[in-house]
Amino acid sequence: MSEYPKRYTVTSALPYTNGPIHIGHLAGVYVPSDIYVRYLRLRGRDVAFVCGSDEHGVAISMKARKEGVSPQEIIDRYHGMIKKSFEEFGISFDNYSRTSARVHHETASGFFRELYDDNKFIEEVTEQLYDEEAGQFLADRFVVGTCPKCGNEEAYGDQCESCGSSLNATDLINPKSTITGTAPVLKETRHWFLPLDQYDSFLREWILEGHKNDWKPNVYGQVKSWLDDGLKPRAVTRDLDWGIPVPVEGAEGKVLYVWFDAPIGYISSTKEWAEREGKDWEPYWKDKDTKLVHFIGKDNIVFHCVIFPAMLKAQGSYILPDNVPANEFLNLEGNKLSTSKNWAVWLHEYLEDFPGKQDVLRYALTANAPETKDNDFTWKDFQARNNNELVAIFGNFVNRVVVLTNKYYDGVVPNPGTFTDYDRETLEALSKYPEIIASSTERYRFREALGELMNVARLGNKYLADEEPWKLVKENPERVQTVMYVALQIAAALGVLSEPFLPFTADKLRNMLALPKLENGVAWETVATADEQLTAGHHIGKGELLFSKIEDAEIERQLERLEKTKSDNKSDVQKAVIPQKETISYDDFAKLDMRVGTIVEAEKMKKADKLLVLKVDTGLDVRTIVSGIAQSFSPEEIIGKKVTVLVNLAPRKLRGVESQGMILMTQQADGKLVFLNPDETVENGESIS
Ligand code: 2FM
Ligand code: ZN
Repeated sequence: MSEYPKRYTVTSALPYTNGPIHIGHLAGVYVPSDIYVRYLRLRGRDVAFVCGSDEHGVAISMKARKEGVSPQEIIDRYHGMIKKSFEEFGISFDNYSRTSARVHHETASGFFRELYDDNKFIEEVTEQLYDEEAGQFLADRFVVGTCPKCGNEEAYGDQCESCGSSLNATDLINPKSTITGTAPVLKETRHWFLPLDQYDSFLREWILEGHKNDWKPNVYGQVKSWLDDGLKPRAVTRDLDWGIPVPVEGAEGKVLYVWFDAPIGYISSTKEWAEREGKDWEPYWKDKDTKLVHFIGKDNIVFHCVIFPAMLKAQGSYILPDNVPANEFLNLEGNKLSTSKNWAVWLHEYLEDFPGKQDVLRYALTANAPETKDNDFTWKDFQARNNNELVAIFGNFVNRVVVLTNKYYDGVVPNPGTFTDYDRETLEALSKYPEIIASSTERYRFREALGELMNVARLGNKYLADEEPWKLVKENPERVQTVMYVALQIAAALGVLSEPFLPFTADKLRNMLALPKLENGVAWETVATADEQLTAGHHIGKGELLFSKIEDAEIERQLERLEKTKSDNKSDVQKAVIPQKETISYDDFAKLDMRVGTIVEAEKMKKADKLLVLKVDTGLDVRTIVSGIAQSFSPEEIIGKKVTVLVNLAPRKLRGVESQGMILMTQQADGKLVFLNPDETVENGESIS
């Protein structure tokens, strides 16, 4: 096998067509997958990037019922809107299909039929929840109840979105119909079950043994906990009238479970693309030298890591995903994003308010991506990312280079003189970035990769600030030629390396530098070898601003809009609560030694904005603790405060000072830190248990 896979099949979760797309979708799935694919293309890899609308399932039927229209009307309305949003934000799918397409119906039916003919299903009559008033069986989102695993009272019939557990509707405690609000009865019905329990050892070997080190801990951890809980057979058919008919005799009035048909949508979308491009779709799904990657949100993990792989394994000729880099959730201003409660930033509305600023949103969402934990989108952070990073660092550097080149040389790239050590070091540092950014990107660490991209712009700003060509130009114009030549190479590198993250900006920048449009497979390496991107004598174009400042008033307007949504909402928007961590044993807990203590001294750590160096009387001793609270408290105001201290945390050095414990705090939604104060009467050294 070559160094790289022969080809890649990259999928992004098919969005339900029951509403438009918001920033949570973009941050969790579509921007990361697009970054990954754009990067692969620049490296000349063979990629199929597929997605499409998920048009079956209860989410659609419910929306149709609510509006008193047909499901078809709903899917047609939102399919177009969603597709347009993706195009507007530069999500560069090779194909965006829909599960109502004929190719999909045929592919999904065919897949079911193959497993059926091969006796891969259990056919069984069981008792299922039935709404007598509505005269229909309740499954999936037609029924809510208490999750038997975590106690969430709004778990759906197939999944609890709070703990991620995959459920059967009959597992719910106190189930209630979402159609009529009544308690369902049990009624017998025939269904086809995929016996997931039979795939236990396959899944253990493939994921738990095979992907312990390369899958994200959140994904691996969830899979492990389901496997440890024990898998059960799972119905893959439903008594519903909206979906793909079950293609066997005696199954009239039944459809495929949406989570059976939707992931097959990736295959149908690949077929549609291959057909159009005159390619063969099969190697993209069946050749062992193809790398299959699914980008999803965390609520989809079970379906992509357990159910779909079991289906693929049962069929037998398909490859399995090499990785499933699921993201956690994005919240909005401290509350959960919600389509039904309108607590969201909708992409089409964003573009009305910030026309042409797609890259700013892509940037803010990537810089703050929920890669390892749930994160919060705030408009203030968005503004700061734009003004302090894109405008002040990236835009500022490029602007200075282009303006000075036009001013000094009428836009012609100058001939460099002899390079100094500093010039060589700068070009050498620049040549390392393609590999640095590639390494983070290939490991799905897009925040890190974006941080490194900004370091390229920082490198350029520092170089110009150190060399000060605007001061040198009179006394040493020859030297300025070299300086501007080096700076231009950095600007040109940005025009390549930024493309996966900021495609509109990269286009604009290349246009400004009069460089040709990026072609697949040629660009990335040219930066890595520090080839001259811009040779002496090349004529660049005129400067135009890449980014512009976002004013306070624009942010205030967005915040007011959210406030209005809050007051319009009959049912409150839901405060985002950090999900419960993995269960620990009593023994794990007993290892923590927490004591009451008093801060007796406090001072600012030199050259560190966030750190205070504290002396804390723990009752055991007076010890040094370095705490990251300097932006919330001044040293004076906390001397004498009673606090809770974790005293047996392994010591670690922060800026050369050894910290011997941790002060326990809580962080408010606005980022403010608050102490956990014990009662004043409790003596230092008292143990907390
Ligand atoms: O959660 C969702 O929005 C689903 N429609 C995702 C489906 S992903 C795939 F399997 F199709
Ligand atoms: Zn739960």
